[in-house]
Amino acid sequence: MDTTTKANRKYSKQIPVYIYDNADAASTHVAKQIVDLIRKKSERGECPVLGLATGSTPLPVYRELIKLYRNNKISFQNVITFNLDEYYPIEPSTRQSCAAYMYDNLFNHIDIKEKNIHIPSGNLNRDEIAEYCRNYENKIVDHGGIDLQLLGIGRTGHIGFNEPGSVMNSNMRAVKLDKLTREDAADDFMGEENVPRQGITMGVSTILGADKIILMAWGKHKANIVAQLVEDNISKHVPATFLQEHSNAEVILDKSAACKLT
Ligand code: F6R
Repeated sequence: MDTTTKANRKYSKQIPVYIYDNADAASTHVAKQIVDLIRKKSERGECPVLGLATGSTPLPVYRELIKLYRNNKISFQNVITFNLDEYYPIEPSTRQSCAAYMYDNLFNHIDIKEKNIHIPSGNLNRDEIAEYCRNYENKIVDHGGIDLQLLGIGRTGHIGFNEPGSVMNSNMRAVKLDKLTREDAADDFMGEENVPRQGITMGVSTILGADKIILMAWGKHKANIVAQLVEDNISKHVPATFLQEHSNAEVILDKSAACKLT
C-alpha cells in the first residue's frame, strides 16, 4: 500500500505537513521520494544531487535506502551527495564525526562513487575555512544545485548547524554551536565537555537553494520546536522557520512530533 495514503496532511500558511503513525512509515515514504528522483533524473541521463543530514532522524531513511539497494531496486552509481555540516574541529576518522556517520550508516553499504561524495571538512586550518566554504558552495552550483535536501531539526530550531541568530541570507561558514545542541550531543561524545564548540555548516541561503526540501522530525522532544517551525512567524530566533519561505518544502512527522500542532 502507498504509505502516503496513511499520512494525514495538514497545512501551515506555507509548509505542507504530513503526519505518519511512526518514523518507519514516514521514512519509507521519504526513501520512496528519493528513489523516484534518482530514477527520474537517471532516465534523463542526469545526475541526481542529494543534500544529506546526519543525526538520529534520517537513520530509518538510510536503512530503507540500503534495503532497496540490496534488493536491486536502485543504484547510486550516478548520485552526487553534499552533506550539510560537520563538527569543527574534528578528524573525519573520529567516530562522532558526520563523515564517519555517513560512511557507517549509508555510503559503505551502497554503490555510490567516492568522488561523488562531499562532506564538509572538520579538520581545516582556521584560515582555510572561508575559501573552503566558498568552494563547497561553488561545487553545489557546478552540479546544477541540490535536487532534494533532507533536514532534521535541532531543539534550538537549527537546520544544519544554523543556530538561533542565523540570518536568511547566510552562506556556508564556521559557526558556534548552541549550548543546547552541545548538550544534545553529549551522550555521543561521552560528555558535553568533549563536544566540539563549533561546526561548519551550509548556510540558510545554501539550504533554501535546494529545489525540494524535506524536514523530518520524530518524537515528543521535537514537538515544541516543530510547532514553532510550522506555526510561528518567520524569525532568525528559530532558523527552521525560514523554510516557510521555500515554495517546495515539506515537513514529515510522526504522531509524537506533531502533538503540539494546533
Ligand atoms: C545534522 C544536522 C542537524 C540535525 C539536528 C537533529 O546533519 O544538520 O541539524 O538534523 O540536530 O538531530 P537529530 O536527528 O539527532 O535529532
